Amino acid sequence: MRDLLLNALRCCNVNRPPVWLMRQAGRYMPQYRALREKHSLWEMFHQPELAAQVTLLPITLLDVDAAIVFTDILVIAESLGLNMVFPEKGGPRVIPQITTKEQVVDLPILDTRNALSYVFETIKEVKKDLQVPLIGFCGGPFTVASYCIDSMSTEPFQGTKRWMAVDPESFHLLLDKITIASIAYLKEQIQAGVQVVQIFDSWANILSLNDFHKWCLPYLRRIVDALRDLVPVILFCRDSSIRCAELAELKPACISLDSQRSMHDLRKTVPSSIAVQGNIPPELLKGSKQEIQRHIEELMHSMEGQKGFIVNLGHGVLPDTPFEHVEYLIHAVKAYLCSWTSSHKS
Ligand code: CP3
Repeated sequence: MRDLLLNALRCCNVNRPPVWLMRQAGRYMPQYRALREKHSLWEMFHQPELAAQVTLLPITLLDVDAAIVFTDILVIAESLGLNMVFPEKGGPRVIPQITTKEQVVDLPILDTRNALSYVFETIKEVKKDLQVPLIGFCGGPFTVASYCIDSMSTEPFQGTKRWMAVDPESFHLLLDKITIASIAYLKEQIQAGVQVVQIFDSWANILSLNDFHKWCLPYLRRIVDALRDLVPVILFCRDSSIRCAELAELKPACISLDSQRSMHDLRKTVPSSIAVQGNIPPELLKGSKQEIQRHIEELMHSMEGQKGFIVNLGHGVLPDTPFEHVEYLIHAVKAYLCSWTSSHKS
């Protein structure tokens, strides 16, 4: 087992930093697009053999240091008795949309082992001959709630913001139910074999700092507290670089940082007991190879000798990224790291 990621998450790596990418399995890959021509996204998530195959694409094609289960943050809806749709045009949605307090009160919290059995089967399938750690994940309760209430492609956050203002009590109840379901879901993923979990509270950035304290942090805290002793937990949200002091207070193993400031500067703002992940701009991968090379050299040089550093993007790989640029990035990181490792040894 290549344990670079697990060591970096414990801030005790003596070798090179690990590299993996958020959304490393996706439309930028020709092999992924070929599978998508034959199957809907819904099918790909629900068929364990297919989902396992997609999970492994970046391992085979890019030799990254971790795999992430191929599923979506919205599948949790199924453990609340809801469904999700991934239309070919427009963003994904949860159906039926949650519009009333009564619906929230009536939402069941189903046994995730049954409701999301296909995810756990995917994990078991992937684990059969995986030589790198497997990352499981869920969405942050606030982000999942906003997908339950709003159509994010046409009216993002309109209903969510109104609900928070008009009936905070039932909004808290919705967050509470999502949190309970998410903890059970992550525990079941761990039982099935994931060794790390990441929480994607992608939309936390739409909230003011005050509202972030109210609607995000308490629920993220509950999830982190419930899992900390089981596996390392990575926290991700948009604008994490300006929220990292608050995120650090939750004592996760790692914070995934966006690309707004240099990693070198950001590292100083996060306690040294917490690992940092990031923060290459996803757009960089659409530029030239020279630009990629230059950025990597600068990043790696500035972080040289730092334990608890995981190379990743500031957000997910963009769908229209040239595949060979992603390949080039991974190669450039490892090539730099080779000289890093040998200079450390000498
Ligand atoms: O990283 C990986 O390789 C694992 C897979 C993964 C997916 N979704 C599969 C997926 C992960 C980690 C996610 C997380 C996710 N899903 C987030 C949080 C991360 C982030 O990007 O902020 C959010 C907000 C979602 C909700 C979601 N699912 C959106 C907004 C979309 C459509 C837009 C898009 O990003 O393409 C999806 C669909 C989805 N989920 C795709 C994939 C690979 C698109 C696939 C396709 O169209 O073929």
